[in-house]
Amino acid sequence: MSRSVVTRPAVAIRNVSKVWTPEGRSPVNALQGLDFDVAPGEFVVLLGPSGCGKSTLLYMIAGLEATTSGLIECDGLKVEEPSAERGLIFQEASLFPWLTIADNVAFGLSIQGVLPVRRREIAIEMLRRVGLSDMLDKKPDELSGGMRQRAACARALAMKPKVLMMDEPFAALDVQTRARMQDFLLQIWRDSGASVLLVTHSIDEAIALADRVIVFTARPGRVKTIVPIDLPRPRPTRDARYHEYRDLFTELLAAEVERAFAEMEAA
Ligand SMILES: Nc1ncnc2c1ncn2[C@@H]1O[C@H](COP(=O)(O)OP(=O)(O)O)[C@@H](O)[C@H]1O
Ligand SMILES: [Mg+2]
Repeated sequence: MSRSVVTRPAVAIRNVSKVWTPEGRSPVNALQGLDFDVAPGEFVVLLGPSGCGKSTLLYMIAGLEATTSGLIECDGLKVEEPSAERGLIFQEASLFPWLTIADNVAFGLSIQGVLPVRRREIAIEMLRRVGLSDMLDKKPDELSGGMRQRAACARALAMKPKVLMMDEPFAALDVQTRARMQDFLLQIWRDSGASVLLVTHSIDEAIALADRVIVFTARPGRVKTIVPIDLPRPRPTRDARYHEYRDLFTELLAAEVERAFAEMEAA
């Protein structure tokens, strides 16, 4: 007897649109008719011009904002509110400045009702994984930007999320730190088994990280194209195929940025 194995997507985006209706201003069509899946353990990068709705999409998957139409499911369940299974990390690590690094990492666990001794153990283990064992009792402002982002990763990972969302997490870091953070992220992604959805403006970052890159159109954001990156990791930056991907994304983005400018000038 044969049995087919069907894997349920970690995230299913079904015909999702979002219209923002800010008070006293005209409505904004942020996203239109998005439709794609993220597989369990998959690394997906969202690439698109600024203002095309990438952050909006992450907020909706996180359960912080409702869709205007369409459906978002995680692990087969409709997203209706935030959940520890869906972690979100912003560009500037949003650590509590008055708590130590270890207490920041343990904070979410206290909401989940994990007891203090166990919280501390988990925080120590997570901070070890991100290379911050020496920083347990430091305050966030005693750490560099890269270290704060690693602490934010540790805090998200402590919750054992099935989906980790990152909104331009390394955009504020210098080039060298950024490259190291990408290596670090690939390592914790492999260890955690979580699906990652990462937003970036950087074509090189997209190629360095992604299993698949989802390219958005200018606003209203739609899926322009989805490009699987068929290269081994670490990505061979000298390979001709690497440069083909680079040229492809440069062309795709340039067309959208131009379109956005033309529309702005016409308005
Ligand atoms: N809370 C909000 N209220 C009203 N409009 C918003 C809000 N958040 C985002 N927008 C608008 O939605 C569009 C998409 O924004 P955003 O998701 O931040 O884009 P991106 O992250 O791709 O740069 C923009 O035009 C932005 O001004
Ligand atoms: Mg954004």
